[in-house]
Amino acid sequence: MELVAATPRAIAHAAELLGEGRLVAFPTETVYGLGADASSDRAVARIFEAKRRPHFNPLIVHVADLAAAALYAELLGQARQLAEAFWPGALTLVLPRRTDARLSLLVSAGLDTVALRVPAHDVAQALLHAAGLPIAAPSANRSGSVSPTRAEHVRDSLDDAVDLILDGGPCPLGLESTVVAFAGGRPVLLRPGGVTVEEIEAVAGPVAMPEGDPAQPQSPGQLASHYAPAKPLRINAATAQPGEAYLAFGPGAPPGVANLSPSGDLREAAAKLFALLRALDRSDARGIAVAPVPETGLGRAINDRLRRAAAPR
Ligand code: TXA
Ligand code: MG
Repeated sequence: MELVAATPRAIAHAAELLGEGRLVAFPTETVYGLGADASSDRAVARIFEAKRRPHFNPLIVHVADLAAAALYAELLGQARQLAEAFWPGALTLVLPRRTDARLSLLVSAGLDTVALRVPAHDVAQALLHAAGLPIAAPSANRSGSVSPTRAEHVRDSLDDAVDLILDGGPCPLGLESTVVAFAGGRPVLLRPGGVTVEEIEAVAGPVAMPEGDPAQPQSPGQLASHYAPAKPLRINAATAQPGEAYLAFGPGAPPGVANLSPSGDLREAAAKLFALLRALDRSDARGIAVAPVPETGLGRAINDRLRRAAAPR
């Protein structure tokens, strides 16, 4: 496994590897993705192996633009409106898969839908253009663990399983894309993420929440463990208990304590979340206690990740 700066030469090499069915980790504006040729069953199967995913979960297929997306899925009505408003960007749309789509069936995991996203990151765009392929890419980490927002996170998490890591520096958003499906003429939020519900509702009207009202979040016990550090995590904690490391949010925390955003800015908190969880996970503390984060805008996605990280393993 090689970790290299994402120069034009390295990107051209990465594109060749993808064409040969190999795995390449690359930066997007959300998190690093573990990419493979989405038209090849063998290449996509390697992703599941590398992540040690217990099941064949469906994967997001990354494409260069809306025209490329229309080769693989039906993009009509509200879906097209959202694509036009937020692509390239941190929005994934779950759409009816075209019967003539030249995509591995594994990316859909047996469903008749496919999840598509046009990433905004320069390196991701350059790689898509150089490869001339749709790229299937989940977050480039072992299944269930903290998502990678830096190239070194990928190296620490996946080692030999990936053929090449393109280093494009820290991911500017730091949280995965928002995943939206459609049912009964309405967008349905499958995963909160980098584009906020408020932004989506401004374009496409009310968004349905399949898991109930996020303003009244489910208890962590009902959530599947995901995004989890190795140490136990406690959320909505006003203070740390003896032996715990504290992750603060906003002003008023003592200096020297890890803080998602000293000024209380949710965008900054999103960008720093996964890197700070990894750093505290390496400390001597027996656990991690995280301060409350407001459930608005990007705070919804931050709290979603924290609740899953705190869920019983
Ligand atoms: O920001 C992101 O979305 C990153 C970067 C690399 O693009 N990718 C990512 O992929 O987070 P992953 O595999 O970790 O998450 C994909 C999410 C999962 O929640 C999956 O269940 C959902 O998208 N998904 C994919 N295809 C789907 C489908 N056909 N129907 C419903 N959900 C789907
Ligand atoms: Mg993931």
